[in-house]
Amino acid sequence: MLLKRFSENYQVFDESYGYLFNSYYNSLGQRIERQNRGLITRPVVETIYKYRAHVNNAMVQLLETSLTEDLEKLTILGINHEQQHQELLLSDLKYTFSCNPLYPKYSDQNFISQNNVEPGWLSVNEGIYNIGYDGNDFCFDNELGHHRVFLEPFEISKSLVTNGDYLEFVEAGGYTNPKYWLDVLD
Ligand SMILES: [Fe+2]
Repeated sequence: MLLKRFSENYQVFDESYGYLFNSYYNSLGQRIERQNRGLITRPVVETIYKYRAHVNNAMVQLLETSLTEDLEKLTILGINHEQQHQELLLSDLKYTFSCNPLYPKYSDQNFISQNNVEPGWLSVNEGIYNIGYDGNDFCFDNELGHHRVFLEPFEISKSLVTNGDYLEFVEAGGYTNPKYWLDVLD
């Protein structure tokens, strides 16, 4: 999208890719119907690497020679958007693995560190708080605008809920007691 708009002599890698890789942006033109997306088994990985290198090289050249404020803003937005894709890819992979009877695991790394196993609860007092992004760096539009909000007092766990915690809850019969998950007032 950036190269077509900002780079005068950019040659697209393949004319069909604009259609092929348009996931759901009607404003960018025709796209494959959502229910048919699983049918896309080509291009092959080697070609995708070439496509990626083609775009990377052209982007580097564009940023080095013709950087404007507009281009910079959109590039940063694009990078953040791409990071969201990577989160989605990881979620999809882990979901697919969870459905596999061989129970493959994504990584041997233990992501639980000392920073997120601190026991106890953090109390937040009632009061007026500023929320929304208030800086000069990148943020998504749904993190704006900056405004004040009244919060009731609440407590939040200092640590992440792990799969182990969750399993303990299930095995202790947590699901058979609506008290723990049904949102009703006593
Ligand atoms: Fe996207």
